[in-house]
Amino acid sequence: MAILVTGGAGYIGSVTVERLRTKGESVVVLDDLARGHRESLDGDVPLYVGKAGDRELVARIAKEHQIESCIHFAALAFVGESVEKPAMYFENNVEQGVALFGALERAGVRRVVLSSTAAVYGEPERMPIGEQSLKWPTNPYGWSKLFLEQLLRSYDTAYGMKFMALRYFNAAGATEHHGEHHDPESHLIPNVLTAAAGDKQEISVLGDKYPTPDGTAIRDYIHVNDLAEAHVLGLEHLHGGKSAELNLGTGKGNSVREVISTIERISGREVPKRVSPRRPGDPAKLVADPTRAEKLLSWNATRSLEDIVSTAWKWSQNRHRTTSTN
Ligand SMILES: NC(=O)c1ccc[n+]([C@@H]2O[C@H](COP(=O)([O-])OP(=O)(O)OC[C@H]3O[C@@H](n4cnc5c(N)ncnc54)[C@H](O)[C@@H]3O)[C@@H](O)[C@H]2O)c1
Repeated sequence: MAILVTGGAGYIGSVTVERLRTKGESVVVLDDLARGHRESLDGDVPLYVGKAGDRELVARIAKEHQIESCIHFAALAFVGESVEKPAMYFENNVEQGVALFGALERAGVRRVVLSSTAAVYGEPERMPIGEQSLKWPTNPYGWSKLFLEQLLRSYDTAYGMKFMALRYFNAAGATEHHGEHHDPESHLIPNVLTAAAGDKQEISVLGDKYPTPDGTAIRDYIHVNDLAEAHVLGLEHLHGGKSAELNLGTGKGNSVREVISTIERISGREVPKRVSPRRPGDPAKLVADPTRAEKLLSWNATRSLEDIVSTAWKWSQNRHRTTSTN
């Protein structure tokens, strides 16, 4: 029996694969490598290079590897890109997701975990954000995930396919072997690390007049290892437990200035920065209420912003050394 991990060659997927294997699980990865990296997986992890929504391929993998559950990470995940190219997002995330879950249902798979996102909430009225908050995404990316959540609810009712929709806030940090490596990179922490390393000219601080203590926007950064652990526990819960939608965050949050100063302190380098106008629709603060996940999975995010920055800095420095010596 094995677990199918779609998007397992990507950032959060590869860390979760590492975690599952440490737990002794058999894992099979399906990834089209459009945004992932073959080298993010150990050589002995079975990797199928293909689309998550390739029904025939999914049916074959399910049969050959006796797939009993699936973690679905495979998606395009840049908010801004989804606004510019909605068709690409609905085709890749929704169309492929519908095909994948259909193929899994036909193959008899009854446990799935979906990578969902805080973007399903749009601009919430209250902080921290609980799972019951209004879900009205402000971009096609958020809608694509909300649609798949709804699909899974219907499949649970009709087919008894149990699911966990894990709504991550901002994933960050690295393990010794795996870290964040997107091209282009839209996330704050890897971009500031790149600037600290001298490979990027300057960081734009998008707005410094927000109603927050230092005027910059606050987001909930969660260590990727904390996320990976929640996936393992989420799958375990589905052996007998009910389906659920859960927020995964720390419940705290750090401002852009706090992130930059932590990176400056840990790297020992100054980061060139400039204040630019805030982006329309960017809320001052987005922080999870993770109480439900803590109760249901006996889980909580244990790693701090310092842990996130120090692991990511170490990983990016190692990667830099390896790529420049190759
Ligand atoms: N990074 C975050 O902060 C964050 C926050 C919330 C939710 N998420 C969700 O977590 C998941 C993983 O995010 P990530 O940051 O690791 O992204 P990533 O781009 O590093 O990983 C996604 C992987 O999926 C693959 N992929 C994409 N579409 C595919 C398809 N149709 N078929 C097969 N493979 C496909 C890519 O090649 C890549 O390896 C995504 O679903 C994303 O929406 C991420």
